[in-house]
Formats: sequence, C-alpha cells, structure tokens
Amino acid sequence: MDNIFAPRLNRIPPYLFSELDRLKAQLGRGLIDLGEGNPDLPPARALLARLQQALKRPENHRYPTYAGKPAVRSRLAGWYHQRFGVRLDPENEVLMLLGSKEGAAHLIWALCGDGDQVGVTDPGYPVYFNNTLLAGATPVSIPLEEKNRFLPDLNLIDRLGPRLKLLCLNFPGNPTAAVAPLEFYQEVVRLALKHGFYVINDNVYSELWFDTPPPSILQVPDARGCAIEFHSLSKTFSIPGWRIGMAAGNPDILRALLKIKQNVDSGPFGAVQDAAAWALQNYRKLAEPVRRAYARRMKVFVRALQSVGWELTPPRATFYLWARLPERWQQQVNGSRSFAFVLALLENCRVVAAPGAGFGRYGEGYIRFALIADEKRLRTAARRIGRWLKTV
Ligand SMILES: Cc1ncc(COP(=O)(O)O)c(C=O)c1O
Repeated sequence: MDNIFAPRLNRIPPYLFSELDRLKAQLGRGLIDLGEGNPDLPPARALLARLQQALKRPENHRYPTYAGKPAVRSRLAGWYHQRFGVRLDPENEVLMLLGSKEGAAHLIWALCGDGDQVGVTDPGYPVYFNNTLLAGATPVSIPLEEKNRFLPDLNLIDRLGPRLKLLCLNFPGNPTAAVAPLEFYQEVVRLALKHGFYVINDNVYSELWFDTPPPSILQVPDARGCAIEFHSLSKTFSIPGWRIGMAAGNPDILRALLKIKQNVDSGPFGAVQDAAAWALQNYRKLAEPVRRAYARRMKVFVRALQSVGWELTPPRATFYLWARLPERWQQQVNGSRSFAFVLALLENCRVVAAPGAGFGRYGEGYIRFALIADEKRLRTAARRIGRWLKTV
C-alpha cells in the first residue's frame, strides 16, 4: 500500500530500535532486558490501597477536569515547596498531565510551528526532537559531551539564543544521567531572558539521586519569567502505567499547554490523581526505598563491569548507566558502533541495552543500560558480558 502517513508524520526518522526488536523477538526467552527505561519495582502497597479507595468515589468515574483537581494541584504546589523551597500558585502555575511525555509533546505543539527553532539536547530523550519535527519546527542540536560533563556549552546557547523559540533541557538526564547544578540553571535563565526564548526542564528523574538531591530550574528567582519544569510520578513511585505527571512554572506557557490539552485529552483519571496527591504528601517515605533499590543495583552492576575491565563512571542520579564502548569497539568505522555493539551484546550475552546513537549523533560511541532488573539478574548480565569481552 502507498504510504498513508501525513507528510508531517513522514518527517520523523525511522524507528532505530526495530532491528533490535526483531532480534529480541527471535531470541525469545532468557534475555536480560536493560533496554527500555521502564521501571520494574512494584508500587508501594499503601499507594495501591489509596488507589483502590479512590476508585470507590463516584466522581472519579466522570470526565476529569482538564488542568487537574484543584486539591491535587495544591498538593503538588506543597511538594514543590517542601522539596525545592519554591512557592507556586496552584491555580496558574501547576498543571496535571497524562505523564510528562504527553506534556512535552503537547507543549512543543502549543508553542512552536513553521519557522521556529527548538534547541534539543543531543543525545537526548527522542520525544523532544521528534515532536519538534511533527510541529513543523526545526530542531537545533545542543551537544552533550563527556568533556563538559554532558552539560550544554553555555557559550553555544548564548550564540544560538537569538534564533531559538524554545530550549528543551532534561537534567538529571536521559540517557547520560548528567546532573545540572543550580548555577547552570541560573545561566540558562539569564540567557533565556536576554534573548527571549522559553525553557523546558524535564526533571522526571529528580527523586532518583544517589548523593545529593538535584535542584529545580524554578529555584532560580527569575525562572518563572521564561521556564517550566516537568515532573513525573512514573519513576519516583514505580507507576509508569498510571500515566500521571505534572508541569509547573510560567503561567503563559502553561496556558498554552492547557489550551492544546483541552482539544486533545480530558486530563488524568481522577482516582489516579487522588492517589498521586497522597504519594506526593508521603514522598519521603515512598521514594526512599525506590532510590535505595536503584542505588544498590547501580553499585552491583558498575562494580561487576569494572571488575571485568570496563572503564565506567558511576552516575549520580537516574537508573541509567551511560557507558562508553570498550576501546576495541571505538575503532570500528563502518556503520554505527553503538548499534553493532548492542547487537553483538544481544547475540553473545542475551543482554539488551540501548545504542547511544539512537539518542542522537553525539550518543555514538556509548550505550545505555537501564537498571530495571534485580541485583541477581544484573550480576548474571555482567558475568555474561565479562566472559564475552574476554573473547573479542
Ligand atoms: C527524560 C524523560 N522524560 C519523560 C519521560 C516520560 O515520563 P512519563 O512516564 O511521565 O511520561 C521519560 C521516560 O522514559 C524520560 O526519560
């Protein structure tokens, strides 16, 4: 059949993981899948009980309000104050989302169109790049390089600033796990106000930290003039299937996002919102065991890979290990090195990882492991990798 896609959909590059998916399906059972950032830990029992209670409320089965329940937005504002020391107006500076992915996509649609340029980090979460293309705008690559600790070069942002409508950041980052200090956000806000562009900081990994809690861009006093931030309950509370996230910050940006949402969706399920509000109220107690579980997994996996000679820098946050390919694999010249490595890993070790090049040109030469398996399976994965690396 002819290509039935709208021209807009044809702008999105082919799905880079399709060859990997085909091989995964062929190899079938026995794989240790560290490919997708899909949390495997069970949600806290008390949280499930809250959701069950909320299901019994008849009003939760009607259409939800578009922006989210006022009480839930107030709770989110309360969490922001507790966690970041930032006071938000729940009415105008907070919006509930069907997951932060939905918010990110719709926000780009709400703000950007033909002729607009959008700064997207490279390597980065592909939703920003692809939705910029879908919206008819032009993505501008902002390289994240190891020599800059995977943070954007601020001089580059200053140079690009006059052309940008929007800058999409994501710290702690997927896939690099880089953490941005508050001083970095201060500079970004200064540049955004100087040049007149808007900023998104996708902070969905803010609670998965291993040493110190990462900051929010909204801690910068002037940030509300130009920036919003996304948060998600998916990773913090191990509930990615519930589809609940939130946006906070600049009221004009949030109004644009709400307008598009009013024409596309009807807001998150009321029962999920109620349970989310309770989770945020109890976030210290609920997030701590999740954080500790990932910290243990990270330690086990990093040590096991280091012990077989793989040089790695342990991340300070997220559940991703962003690993530079071993030296011998850096030499390959034909095709993508990271794809070749991931395919070899799959065939020889039955371990699935994500090729760095799938996250952008600057991701080439790296792979990403998502630590979504228990410690025993991570040890097994590292053992298989170690045995194989000795033979190549
Ligand atoms: C950077 C980033 N933003 C957003 C999301 C999506 O989160 P949510 O489940 O809230 O849609 C992910 C998920 O992997 C992510 O890595």
